[in-house]
Amino acid sequence: MTNKSGCWVIVGGAFGDEGKGKIISHLAMKENPAIAVRGGVGPNAGHTVVCGDRTLKLRMLPCAVVNENTRLMLGAGVLVDPEVSLKEVTETESGLRTKVDRNCAIIEKKHIELDRAGHLKEIVGTTGTGTGPANSDRILRIGKLARDDERLSDYLDNVSARVNSSLDEKQLVLVEGTQGSLLSLYHGDYPYVTSKDVSASGICSDVGVGPKRVSEVLVVFKSYMTRVGSGPLEGELPPEETVKRGWQEYGSVTGRLRRAAPFNNKLARDSITLNSATMIGLTKLDTVFPDAGGVRDYEKLPAKARKFVEEIESELSTPVVYIGTGPDALDIIERKVESRSW
Ligand code: IMP
Ligand code: MG
Repeated sequence: MTNKSGCWVIVGGAFGDEGKGKIISHLAMKENPAIAVRGGVGPNAGHTVVCGDRTLKLRMLPCAVVNENTRLMLGAGVLVDPEVSLKEVTETESGLRTKVDRNCAIIEKKHIELDRAGHLKEIVGTTGTGTGPANSDRILRIGKLARDDERLSDYLDNVSARVNSSLDEKQLVLVEGTQGSLLSLYHGDYPYVTSKDVSASGICSDVGVGPKRVSEVLVVFKSYMTRVGSGPLEGELPPEETVKRGWQEYGSVTGRLRRAAPFNNKLARDSITLNSATMIGLTKLDTVFPDAGGVRDYEKLPAKARKFVEEIESELSTPVVYIGTGPDALDIIERKVESRSW
């Protein structure tokens, strides 16, 4: 039974890999959304969803796939790699509850080849999944769209129309962002950015939902910062120190060791402003405070961990509502918004 409705936009607050998949899969199981719709760039994303004994690595489908009653959609702004998408549909047995907007642009082999060569690989350190070159063709208006691709013919729909009519019926819709706001083409450290705007406004535009329809903007941070590829990372730790702290992670799409730094209030504040966040999700608290592992009740967290959460809340003047304490979708603390300390 859900008591939440309206349009919830969930975006990454930093450089991607904040653990959006975990927070979204929790919301999907608990709040039973009618639709989960993905915005963002394309298969350069890698979202890990752990649910019971299943671990899913998703690059195209919405993370809310864990709820079999939720309809899954890809907004028109998303670049679709048909092979990756159809493989995920098969693996998750999500069949025809998955819809792709007719106007999604297609990633072709030539885009992947271009992405793995030249300045994109050497200077930007892209994921090599073809997204930048495919967006470039789209802007030149020479790219192929989903409506031209036979492999997708059973899945085509008008996603914006579906999402808006679901909102008219007062249902809950999750709008899932990808990457992180600080990798935005417009608002990040150009040229060390992805090929689109990935802030909450950009994600809504991908899906075709207007700003007045948005109910909540949930910005997800990890309890420390990570970045893969090139570009500045303030307070970056040497790799040995990252390993010593147990913060080492490997990219789920590229397998690269992620660069790491302590949580950065200044970057986080910029992201809160950019996204007009109404709430925060904070993941991997148990990686920084091992005693927090598996705790599902805020009062049972070690005092140091609570202090860390409350300092973030007061620095960012935004409530930390969801806290991840382990990999499973259920390893999560959900706080009442009234309990905020700022
Ligand atoms: P592209 O998005 O593949 O063009 O890569 C541009 C930059 O964004 C590179 O630094 C990538 O490592 C980074 N990036 C793209 N997608 C993700 C993601 O999902 N997580 C983390 N970094 C990403
Ligand atoms: Mg990722």
